[in-house]
Amino acid sequence: MKEISIEMALRFRHPEIVINVVTKSKEGKVDVTPLGWAMLGSSSPNTWAIGVYKKHYSHKSILDTKEFTVCIPSFSQAKDTLFCGANSGWKIDKLPQTNFKILPAKKVSTPIIEDSLACFECKLIDQTK
Ligand SMILES: Cc1cc2nc3c(=O)[nH]c(=O)nc-3n(C[C@H](O)[C@H](O)[C@H](O)COP(=O)(O)O)c2cc1C
Repeated sequence: MKEISIEMALRFRHPEIVINVVTKSKEGKVDVTPLGWAMLGSSSPNTWAIGVYKKHYSHKSILDTKEFTVCIPSFSQAKDTLFCGANSGWKIDKLPQTNFKILPAKKVSTPIIEDSLACFECKLIDQTK
């Protein structure tokens, strides 16, 4: 078998799931960040394992509030999802520049995105540095 670089091998991982992680900062700013590094962590309890760069605005909000929501985007949300992945909450307020409509969640104070395929209300239970 031919040996190739890790970078080249990783190209074969596509297609991969994309989720929208919604966060609400301590100051109340709601941010949407798409992530490809996401998988189910366990089924009992149900958990998501997500990989978020430390430099991201959403990373700080998750650590500050210990909660977030996971919204699985529908095809019609592709454009707004990509917009949120190309801009940081450190620089702009993303939501007003999208067609995303947010709805209150039931068990966390971070909202969910209307018309997503499915939404999960999440509390941070562990972190790997
Ligand atoms: C399709 C897609 C997948 C992405 N996957 C990840 C990911 O898994 N982890 C991550 O940290 N950033 C990922 N990003 C980049 C962030 O979404 C992007 O840097 C975003 O602007 C961060 O926003 P924030 O600073 O408001 O949190 C992805 C972007 C796109 C478009």
